[in-house]
Amino acid sequence: LPFPAPNLDNCLSSEACCTPIPSTAKPTKFKFQTHLPMRIRPAAHLVDDAYIAKYQRAMELMKALPDTDGRSFTNQWKIHCLYCDNHLYFETETHPYPLEIHKSWLFYPWHRLYVYFHERILAKLIDDDTFALPFWNWDNQSPELPQGNVVPKVYAEKRSLYTDPINKTSSIYDETRTPCALSPEGFLDIQNPFSCPGANVSEEVRATNAHVTYVQAVGVGVTPLLFHGWPYRLGDEGGGGNGALEATPHGSVHAWVNAKKMLTFRDSAADPIFFGHHANMDRLWEVY
Ligand code: C2O
Repeated sequence: LPFPAPNLDNCLSSEACCTPIPSTAKPTKFKFQTHLPMRIRPAAHLVDDAYIAKYQRAMELMKALPDTDGRSFTNQWKIHCLYCDNHLYFETETHPYPLEIHKSWLFYPWHRLYVYFHERILAKLIDDDTFALPFWNWDNQSPELPQGNVVPKVYAEKRSLYTDPINKTSSIYDETRTPCALSPEGFLDIQNPFSCPGANVSEEVRATNAHVTYVQAVGVGVTPLLFHGWPYRLGDEGGGGNGALEATPHGSVHAWVNAKKMLTFRDSAADPIFFGHHANMDRLWEVY
């Protein structure tokens, strides 16, 4: 059976990820908006200052929305928290039943929709239907600078580039990241996500990052089921098993950015880099 839309009133979270969505709000069926332009997501390490300013402005407006608005940034990151880790329950005929969006074939489609609506709300807030999120291309193989294997400037830039900022800190920056991820030179090492390789070994690590991603997608994800993850239908227990990319590199990148925040189910989407990370997962799904 397919999953019904959950009732957001059934939030049993003791960790405050319940959102203040009124119970009168009814989910509506998705309709593809054919009048909207095709959005083209840029690679995060290649965007220019004008793009960064636009993205910062959109996120600033999202963060300024009151929490009575379901589109506020707080409500959006809470949605991720809510949909996993036994926070949200369906009423079924026999027993309350928790939803889990990780470690099953629900992983890719759920996160694709999540990123998609986040992107559309950002676009709406700046009244620019062409706006597309950047994807953080951490498996980028090019040895040329800038590279995707570091935190791209768009997320690392602390200063707000918007000309009339509400505050001077970029709305896309998150100061709770690890020192390696806060530094625009700190190199991601997918195989050792708790390390910070120096510039002298980074070339080797860059090649390994691309190699690990390839081996996971092509070698481990050798069938569609192995690639997407364990089957999960209404009534099954969630979280049966990872797809090929979910633990590595996806989980490694979460851990490398910040094990205390980006690696947690509860708080990860509260760092805007989450959405660039998942835009890359979305891209890798498409490549697969
Ligand atoms: Cu719901 Cu990258 O995780």
